[in-house]
Amino acid sequence: MKNIVVLISGNGSNLQAIIDACEQKKINGTLRAVFSNKADAFGLERAREATIPAHALTADQFASRDAFDRELMLEIDAYAPDLVVLAGYMRILSPAFVSHYAGRLLNIHPSLLPKYPGLHTHRQVLENGDEEHGTTVHFVTDELDGGPVILQAKVPVFDGDTEEEITARVQAQEHAIYPLVVSWFVEGRLKMENNAAWLDGVCLPPQGYAADE
Ligand code: GRF
Repeated sequence: MKNIVVLISGNGSNLQAIIDACEQKKINGTLRAVFSNKADAFGLERAREATIPAHALTADQFASRDAFDRELMLEIDAYAPDLVVLAGYMRILSPAFVSHYAGRLLNIHPSLLPKYPGLHTHRQVLENGDEEHGTTVHFVTDELDGGPVILQAKVPVFDGDTEEEITARVQAQEHAIYPLVVSWFVEGRLKMENNAAWLDGVCLPPQGYAADE
């Protein structure tokens, strides 16, 4: 069984989707631990509820980002992770952290990357009058929200949508695609090589995997 560690900062609904998929054996791996950079993150409760070790490391305990990430790496590595999953982890990673977990570090970003890297994606979609929106699972590299795309899910934007409505629509897709990508990885089907994502030995295009129509 492959070991999975998840990093969160907040609600942890994506974490919950991964916990559920592990329990339902849709992911053939073990969720060893959850780490948060916010002590009051609700996701830590979700982890405890599922009897998964839940840890908080907060910025005020450390003198620098490097020191924070060094300790985080030590604590994560105690669980011998095959895969580290960022699920709403709202903290910039140091280059040392990214290179330490290169090829086994995933993120989910709430936009159709390369559109809207960074924050407030849902608001920007509404302000720009976009007709479609979505979410992206990608490998993490040093480029913020810029690593190789693995899978995207699109949602429509309807006239009069509020930010809350499109957030919920996007998140419903996230809860489907993130566990799926994690399952691909733990089954050894998914890799990062030459700064590209590969699934079943096939190099994925810039927008990630697309099923045949
Ligand atoms: C998700 O929408 C994800 O795309 C973004 O942060 C949000 C986290 O939500 N990175 P949750 O904590 O998993 O509910």
